[in-house]
Amino acid sequence: MAIKHFLQFSDFTLDEFEYLFERAHLIKRKFKNYEPHHTLLDRTLVMVFEKNSTRTRLSFEAGMHQLGGAAIYLNTRDSQLGRGEPVEDAAQVMSRMCDIIMIRTFGQDIIDRFAANSRVPVINGLTNEHHPCQVLADVFTYIEHRGSIVGKTVAWIGDANNMLYSWLQAAQVFGFHVNVSTPKGYDIDPSLVTANKSRYTVFGDPSDACVGADLVTTDVWTSMGFEAENAARLQAFDGWIVDSAKMRCAHPDALFMHCLPAHRGEEVAAEVIDGPQSVVWDEAENRLHVQKALLEYLVLGRLT
Ligand code: CP
Ligand code: NVA
Repeated sequence: MAIKHFLQFSDFTLDEFEYLFERAHLIKRKFKNYEPHHTLLDRTLVMVFEKNSTRTRLSFEAGMHQLGGAAIYLNTRDSQLGRGEPVEDAAQVMSRMCDIIMIRTFGQDIIDRFAANSRVPVINGLTNEHHPCQVLADVFTYIEHRGSIVGKTVAWIGDANNMLYSWLQAAQVFGFHVNVSTPKGYDIDPSLVTANKSRYTVFGDPSDACVGADLVTTDVWTSMGFEAENAARLQAFDGWIVDSAKMRCAHPDALFMHCLPAHRGEEVAAEVIDGPQSVVWDEAENRLHVQKALLEYLVLGRLT
């Protein structure tokens, strides 16, 4: 039987996400009550990081521990990946020693090649093109605060990056709409969009994209791996800050989300990220709960 991976948001069906969210609710409740939930006793997660991380590392490592298993951290600096060992060989070896693997890397092709050579499930912990675990937590967070996301409007204010492509895939699976406003030169690459065109609308003016939105979200102006473009981006993104004027264009009970880390005064004003509409800390915490559900599902399948 083919191994199930989570390399892009579109790898799972709506039915699978609904199951994951049900488990995540249960797992979160048990965590809050200090009730043990050791469904992955004696199982091992290997985490490979080729880029920095705080939340992804912490949530996967703590999550695996809370499920009764162990997590091993590898990075490019001190593993043989940093000395040119082919990803195909690394996948063969790692997947013979553990039950599941999470990777944060550069191109999506790297994780695809890794997964093709792995005997165990592989999770995308962020690539240049996708960040499905974050959007999994974000959709769960929206539903926790506001109920169903079906038919709602998400405003994306920022460049066409990994977060946006995962949001567009989520829109297709769940049935919501994304209003996208990217600065000139940082717009959507159609070859990376799998969602139907009816699922999103592109706006030249970021304030227009916020009109009627139920959720406004943004991200750093310079994603990891694009640091050389930082100065040019600072200029091009002038006007793309999510401030209270833009939030006023949105629905009065709109939420604000940011995957973090954030830069106050660049992509978001302090009054927004630290204001009453912001749910950024819930988003971060929910990484833990939804990923525990994801780990459990990929290793064990559905539990009744
Ligand atoms: N949001 C997120 O993935 O954070 P880290 O880069 O800290 O893992
Ligand atoms: N788009 C950002 C997300 C960080 C969690 C990046 O890729 O750096």
